[in-house]
This record gives sequence, C-alpha cells and structure tokens, in this order.
Amino acid sequence: MKKLLAPSILSSDFMNLESEIRMLEKAGADWVHCDVMDGHFVPNLTFGPPIIKQLRKITDLPLDVHLMITNPEETLNQYIDAGADWLSFHIEATKHSKALLRYIQGKNVKSGIVIKPKTPVNAIRDLLPDCDYVLIMSVEPGFGGQSYMDSANDKITRLVELKKELKLNFLIQIDGGIGLDNIEAVSKMGAEVFVAGSAVFGAKNSVKTIQEMKKKINI
Ligand code: DX5
Ligand code: ZN
Repeated sequence: MKKLLAPSILSSDFMNLESEIRMLEKAGADWVHCDVMDGHFVPNLTFGPPIIKQLRKITDLPLDVHLMITNPEETLNQYIDAGADWLSFHIEATKHSKALLRYIQGKNVKSGIVIKPKTPVNAIRDLLPDCDYVLIMSVEPGFGGQSYMDSANDKITRLVELKKELKLNFLIQIDGGIGLDNIEAVSKMGAEVFVAGSAVFGAKNSVKTIQEMKKKINI
C-alpha cells in the first residue's frame, strides 16, 4: 500500500493560505490535515467550518479534519457539510464514540478515532471495526512544533497486531513531532499516514521536504 503524507496547515502562513495549498498540490502532498481546536478540549483555538468550506472550494486534495473539540456530536454536521473527506475526533472528548463513527460513515465521510498520548490502545479496541483510520497522537494535542514521544511506538505496533488479529483495514495515522529525521523509522513500525506541520511549513524548502518525506515512507 502506498503510504500517505498529510501536511498540517496549523503551521502554515494563514495570511497566504491559498498559496500554501498550491504549494502542497505542487509538491504532491496526499491530504491536507486541518487541526480544529476549540480552546476547551485543548488550550489553543484555531479555525472551524467556515475555513474548511473555503478550502473545499479551492482544492481537490482530500481534507483530513482532526477535531480537538469537546462534545464533537454537537457540531459534527458542520464539518461534514463543509466538505471534510476524512473526519476524526478524540475518544476523550465524547461519550458517544461508536455512534459518531457510524454516523460519519453513514454520511459517506471516512471516520477516525484519535487517542492522546496517555490513552491506551485498548480503550479503542471495540471501536476499531467502525473506523476507517486511527490517529495516534505522538505529542499532547494543542500545538505544533513539539517533540515526538516514543511512547507512540508501542501503540503503533499494537495497532498493527490488532489489525491483523481482527482482520480490519483501518489506516494507522501518526500526528506530532514527525520530521525528516524520524519519519522512516516510524513508517517501519507500521504507521501509514503521516501528519507533519512544522517540519513541512518551517522548512527552507517545503516542496523538497514533502518530496523527501514521501520517498522515506515509500521505500
Ligand atoms: C497538534 C496537531 C498536529 C500539529 C502537528 O495538536 O494535532 O497536527 O499540527 O505539528 P508538528 O508536526 O509540528 O508536531
Ligand atoms: Zn492534528
């Protein structure tokens, strides 16, 4: 399977968002990762459905919307209507994870569950049959530019095992502290979709960085 790179626009230049998206298209990014933060589930606040909607108008790249919001059930429809292709939320943020995953799929959007660094993989075991992807956070959610936490490694390995054991096809996504220095190693552990924010947008040459990252995950 071809592995995918999903640059996070959290670290992009919001004053020039369209040209950042054009850069991602030119470089061959696979998805656009959109970090939605509510200032409550995480201490930072970013953007919501109106921006997703505008992104949808200007690009055909798949929009991967990572909700870091409390009670996602209250506003989920807005992200679906805005044009999310892949939509994930945190198990720590709601009591209705299974119903929400099924609801998202029922709307023909790919569904994902996210776990924070302190949440074990076992917490999502029963949800796996209803997931198109699982997002393992390798930093505490809220900010870009943090260092990769090695505690994510065992979680990737465990998910690879569970995928085989349960005969499921969900993708394993990793988010936080991914860069040119560690992407190949994390890929070898079994991750399949890689989010990278500061490593892409903070690079001197973002296009080249994306291309190098893609090479490293598809060796
Ligand atoms: C953090 C976000 C990430 C963030 C990653 O809460 O979920 O997507 O953009 O940033 P880097 O790649 O800089 O760790
Ligand atoms: Zn994210």
